[in-house]
Amino acid sequence: GGKRRPIVGGNWKCNPATASSLDELCRNFDGVAPYLEKCDVYVCPSNLHVALVKDNFTPGVHVAPQNCNFKGCGAYTGEMSVDQIQDLGLGWVLIGHSERRGEFGLPTPAESNQLMATKLQYILDQGLNCVFCIGEPLSIRQKGIQAIVPILKALEDKSRVVIAYEPVWAIGTGVAATPEQAQETHKGIRDWIAANVDRATADAIRIQYGGSANAGNAPELSSFPDIDGFLVGGASLKPEISDIVKAIA
Ligand code: G3P
Repeated sequence: GGKRRPIVGGNWKCNPATASSLDELCRNFDGVAPYLEKCDVYVCPSNLHVALVKDNFTPGVHVAPQNCNFKGCGAYTGEMSVDQIQDLGLGWVLIGHSERRGEFGLPTPAESNQLMATKLQYILDQGLNCVFCIGEPLSIRQKGIQAIVPILKALEDKSRVVIAYEPVWAIGTGVAATPEQAQETHKGIRDWIAANVDRATADAIRIQYGGSANAGNAPELSSFPDIDGFLVGGASLKPEISDIVKAIA
């Protein structure tokens, strides 16, 4: 971590299978309470569970749905709108996760960089904060940068946009990027923002690392200056989420 306020997110993805286990998963976040003064924490429950858990976290933990559309309410089967998110009293949404962008074997990328840029601007215009996920498969270097090319204007809204860098090869594999690899990429993204927007924006934008982050590797990853927090999958379903927050707070 560096000079920015750290931020840690728990992405539950399509878990848990039963609503009866939600309370236990929420209680795992009780341990983050002492760190909320210094660190932002959010949870992305499955969209079906958002309304069930939104009032069941330790106060100060934000609930951020895992997706939304950029059209609003209407004839959009299977979608969630920003209006619905705001009506529940929620202030954050996460978009662009690689599991939605089609990196896991879907025939065509469902959510292109251009579409994601449109969606991000829509979300900001509506007044929500946004975690914007990017990340490259091992075979495609620089894909992380490509994903932020269309969002330059949105990045100027630096306090309301958080970038989550998740190298696809590190997600759910147990093999996190080395702290040096993560630092190098985060710095690369930041320098690119400095060159293409301005240094103040680059210095203010928070960049989370995601991909097999856990209580064991969080302390070392946290010691690098351009790593401002974590987006945690598997370990956010366990009590160790509070140790991850503690490491960076
Ligand atoms: O969004 C979080 C993520 O994709 C990382 O998942 O299970 O490797 O921590 P995991």
